[in-house]
Amino acid sequence: MSKQFDVVVIGGGPGGYVAAIRAAQLGFSTACVESESYDDPKGEVRLGGTCLNVGCVPSKALLQSSEHFDNARHGFVMHGITADDVRIDVRTMVKRKDNIVTQLTGGIKGLFKKNKVALLPGHGKFVGGGEDGWEIEVAGEVVVGKHVIVATGSKPRHLEGIQVDNKLICDNAGALAFDAVPKRLGVIGAGVIGLELGSVWKRLGAEVTILEALPEFLAAADAAVAREAWKVFTQKQGLDIRLDVKINKVTAGKKGVTVEYEAGDDNHVLECDKLIVSVGRVPNTEGLGCEAVGLKLDERGRVDVDAHCRSNLPNVWAVGDVVRGPMLAHKGMEEGVMVAELIAGQAGHCNYDAVPWVIYTHPEIAWVGMTEQQLKSAGIEYRAGQIPFAANGRALGQGDTTGFVKMLADSRTDQILGVHVIGTNASELISEAVVAMEFHASSEDIARIVHAHPTLSEVMHEAALSVDKRPLHF
Ligand code: FAD
Ligand code: NAI
Repeated sequence: MSKQFDVVVIGGGPGGYVAAIRAAQLGFSTACVESESYDDPKGEVRLGGTCLNVGCVPSKALLQSSEHFDNARHGFVMHGITADDVRIDVRTMVKRKDNIVTQLTGGIKGLFKKNKVALLPGHGKFVGGGEDGWEIEVAGEVVVGKHVIVATGSKPRHLEGIQVDNKLICDNAGALAFDAVPKRLGVIGAGVIGLELGSVWKRLGAEVTILEALPEFLAAADAAVAREAWKVFTQKQGLDIRLDVKINKVTAGKKGVTVEYEAGDDNHVLECDKLIVSVGRVPNTEGLGCEAVGLKLDERGRVDVDAHCRSNLPNVWAVGDVVRGPMLAHKGMEEGVMVAELIAGQAGHCNYDAVPWVIYTHPEIAWVGMTEQQLKSAGIEYRAGQIPFAANGRALGQGDTTGFVKMLADSRTDQILGVHVIGTNASELISEAVVAMEFHASSEDIARIVHAHPTLSEVMHEAALSVDKRPLHF
């Protein structure tokens, strides 16, 4: 007799592990299937998915370490602090990152125990069943789930003819585990990974060249933010970002990697010691047995779901990177909670209009809602308020005055439609805007909230005031 569960989750990343915990909290017998050990020294399966093992968490650990190094070398001088002979021990830095990962992934195993979620190690695949119970094969055994939540995530998109070996030519996993600073680092793709990991190795001393196919830089961000970011990254920080390129050939040899590419009408060659390929991610549905049960995929190979993450099959749901929407950990987690609550007959919901984006460069970039260019093309009339960090006492005190907060509100109703931040701590500041948008607040609402002084949050306050053209400190 197969083991039976109310809910079987396939995939133990942020979408999957959160769905499993919430389902168990709601009283369902729950199992979570996970296949990857992510180089675990004991070879054990690890929870946390891409995010905890080779994504969000390790990249932020390295960003922090490299920022400290950069500050020690260049940033503290303005405070009258100088340090000679500042050095970086990359192995210690990477070990610290690995320890954080181990702590957090182990922590999720602890949360599974606490919530009585069964971890089923192995590759999960649909082999049959129907509305009354779906059969999932894991490690040679079949388990039955009344409900199944697919949370199999995504993997790096590879470019034809470029062999990733995670030594010389790396995807995110290899790029988070260099054991020394490369002298010359090449990056294909000026997206989120390219900018974050390019920044890490640049701060540590690498010459970084980023090759981007699109003619526009950071096309998803508000154009004013993208312009400011371009200025800071290329002029102040010395990232060499080349737009509108076409990669022709990549070869790896003893001396490193050679990238042949076209820009304009010219052919160029980039020689580098390591190459990161970060050109987006693709959904993970390989070997999932979709065809065995008729699970429908969309035109981009993602599990086809409705606004509530229901697939075409009864009681089969899908969340996170494997479905439409931004590939962000918090979006997947929120979907996981929504689905568990919907299974329990509750009113689970995920507000896709209020999902924040954060790019953890320095300055950080964060936004929620619509950009100015989206509002224009949708023909929505809006008012904009923009305040620079340079006008804020706390930012001056910190010696970190780059960037601004920009707020966009409906001209007629004053409802906030988008907030865009480039500057120090943008990742934390954006939360206020997310709360405001979740509760359909107006710029006037933010303008009338008391913001502590002196804090960076006053820039958000002033941006709201400036929507109505009445900033007090600018
Ligand atoms: P995943 O995290 O990919 O987890 C899916 C899991 O399912 C994997 O562990 C996989 O092994 C397992 N699996 C797949 N198929 C099967 C199967 N058939 N059987 C069993 N197990 C299976 N997002 C942010 O919000 N903030 C960030 O700062 C951020 N930084 C990032 C940095 C990098 C370098 C990268 C690569 C990504 C980053 N992301 C970030 C994106 C984030 O990692 C993903 O959005 C998130 O991990 C998606 O969660 P998920 O649960 O859908 O999938
Ligand atoms: P991305 O989609 O952010 O950027 C990929 C870039 O590569 C794009 O600018 C694209 O135009 C470019 N590109 C595509 N094909 C190319 C080619 N042949 N030659 C040159 N350039 C090419 O994808 P990325 O950086 O790989 O990250 C994947 C996803 O992971 C992100 O979209 C995001 O969802 C998630 N992520 C989130 C982070 C965060 O929230 N801070 C951090 C890192 C990743």
